[in-house]
Amino acid sequence: MRKHIVAGNWKMHKTHTETLALLDEILSKKQNSDTEIIVAPTFINLKAANDEVVGKGITVAAQNMHQAEGGAFTGEIAANMLTDINVNTVILGHSERRAYFHESDGLLANKVDTALKHNMRVIFCFGEELKDRQKNNHFNIVEYQLRDALFHLEKKDWKNIVLAYEPVWAIGTGETASPEQAQEMHKFIRSIIEKVYGSDIANDVSILYGGSVKPSNAKEIFSKPDVDGGLIGGAALHADDFLAIVNAF
Ligand code: G3P
Repeated sequence: MRKHIVAGNWKMHKTHTETLALLDEILSKKQNSDTEIIVAPTFINLKAANDEVVGKGITVAAQNMHQAEGGAFTGEIAANMLTDINVNTVILGHSERRAYFHESDGLLANKVDTALKHNMRVIFCFGEELKDRQKNNHFNIVEYQLRDALFHLEKKDWKNIVLAYEPVWAIGTGETASPEQAQEMHKFIRSIIEKVYGSDIANDVSILYGGSVKPSNAKEIFSKPDVDGGLIGGAALHADDFLAIVNAF
């Protein structure tokens, strides 16, 4: 069901003690809101984070998972290891995974299938690089990413899919997409989902924007009709900034 979501992707930040301190500050300062709050600490801190926030209006998500159900994959984490500690949401396809760990859309399709098999909710990341936009090829790139990783899914699967459009050139750069650029791409994304799955699915899927969202720009970006929230990096590591973004709706 389409709803407002603000998710903090903590990436490779925060020790165990720092994780609990940040969560306690967020819990102490957060206001009642219809916006779902998600935080994604590192694997090692997931259980402690979940134990800290359970029942308090914050969802804990993993930043990744392996496509296999288990096995000889040193350093990896399987879906059932996440659901076993009641972590039922996972970020997949982040541009840093695509760039540094060579995750293709085909591999990501397998990861999505495994997550859905375990009834997990997937926050699926995608977005063009600067060279694509400069060549006015960004719509094609985004469509291919979605088609290759998600358009094998059945309609029933989409209840567990959240989309996160993250133009790579805006991630961590301070170069945010304009609200108009975000709305244009989100509207396009919804239109291609409608072509394949119909208007019910297209209108129900939450599409988050990610890429240098800050307290100063969140309200204008989130005011756009096809923007349903944000996937936040740097600003998520500071309680006041993160909550200012959560409260930007
Ligand atoms: O996953 C969200 C992240 O990639 C955005 O990072 O620091 O630009 O908000 P940032």
